Amino acid sequence: MAVDYRKVDKAHVWHPLFQHQRLDETELVVFKSAHGTTLVDAEGREYLDAYSALWNVNVGYGRQEIADAVYAQIQELPYYPHSQINVPATVLAEQLVACLPGDLNHVYFCNSGSEANETAIKIARQYGRQTYPGENRYKIISRYRGYHGFTYGALSATGQARRRKAFEPLVPGFLHAHPPYCYRCPLGLASSSCNIGCAEDIARIIQSEGPETVIAVIAEPIIGGGGVIVPPDEYFPKLREICDAYGLLLILDEVITGFGRTGKMFACEHWDVQPDIITLAKGLTSGYLPLGACVASTSVFNAFLGASDEHREFAQVCTYGGHPVACAAGVANLKILQTERLWENAAHVGAYLLEKLESLGSLPIVGDVRGKGLMLAVELIQVESAPIETAKTNQIVAQLREKGVIVGKIGHAVDEPENIIFIAPPLILTQTEADRIFETLREVLIKQ
Ligand SMILES: Cc1ncc(COP(=O)(O)O)c(C=O)c1O
Repeated sequence: MAVDYRKVDKAHVWHPLFQHQRLDETELVVFKSAHGTTLVDAEGREYLDAYSALWNVNVGYGRQEIADAVYAQIQELPYYPHSQINVPATVLAEQLVACLPGDLNHVYFCNSGSEANETAIKIARQYGRQTYPGENRYKIISRYRGYHGFTYGALSATGQARRRKAFEPLVPGFLHAHPPYCYRCPLGLASSSCNIGCAEDIARIIQSEGPETVIAVIAEPIIGGGGVIVPPDEYFPKLREICDAYGLLLILDEVITGFGRTGKMFACEHWDVQPDIITLAKGLTSGYLPLGACVASTSVFNAFLGASDEHREFAQVCTYGGHPVACAAGVANLKILQTERLWENAAHVGAYLLEKLESLGSLPIVGDVRGKGLMLAVELIQVESAPIETAKTNQIVAQLREKGVIVGKIGHAVDEPENIIFIAPPLILTQTEADRIFETLREVLIKQ
């Protein structure tokens, strides 16, 4: 007799961000297999995955090269800690450094985006103590609506009240600035004349706190789960200038935006902005295995050099950091991305889909359509631009799924109502598949 996985799951599995009392009314899907951009459930139904699972299956499903690399590595050397050298981690570090901008030359491997940001925060604090002796530089500035992970440091940098409040008090020394959310400017400014007041907000915080107490700014180039918030082109160059003026590190969290998602290999390339530290996960293996990385510039790395009795080395160890099997998956994944130049497809098909989605702007329910590459969002409204209710957004997402298209939505991030739909398909998306996403969305939205 076939196992009833839903029943077993209900008895024993605790799902993230999920109210289990609702399990009877909300049937979770049992996904069994996948290929390309297509997911297949236990009943054999196929779906176009327009969300890349969780913004991460960049190369699409069913890549034999990654499976082969993982299998071979498990046979050869399944694991040894990164206190010594393993070949796949070394090869991946070299290849990453070669495709990252500027002098981001030193890779610290870990297992997830949260850990990558946790690592960046700790590197920044230790760097602050070692670079500015006599000062007490430890504060870190991030933005409201930004998401950096679930661990305590990364959560403290996160600017989403609903992800934070059950666990407060969080780590001291984290400050939040307004995000560059032009559609609903938190500063009430008009984008034509705002002079990037949200970047100025960060300078103001630094001055008010005392620059000698602040060490870094951490930011997603495009805020992802907080609403796909694309900054004005002037924002990041200005933020870089502010960081330089006050001697702060700029940490860019490219956990979602990295590896081609926005139409460039890394999103910071859109504005030619060079971070001091970049954090990576998701697209690093396209989700085939867990892997994160925190990559620092040469000057950050050099602050950790010294005689052994000075104890300047980075004071963190991670059992599975640099896991050879995950790194082998990373090497195979990067090869696919580079051979197929998938960021170019993301730029091309993304621009095509964005233009189509923009045509939905004439529907009263569509307030804003935005994004870059294949990182897109549709913000849904009712009268006078008020957000639609969460229940309605959920209904729209469910109707899309009924019609075979899976999209994401803002969830447990900012105050309700949750009214933003995310479209972030694998970077192999074809124009025909883009048409299908658009047509299905139009069909559903037109009936609201
Ligand atoms: C921008 C960003 N940073 C960090 C994280 C945390 O990554 P993980 O869930 O792998 O810990 C996420 C997760 O979605 C993210 O979107």
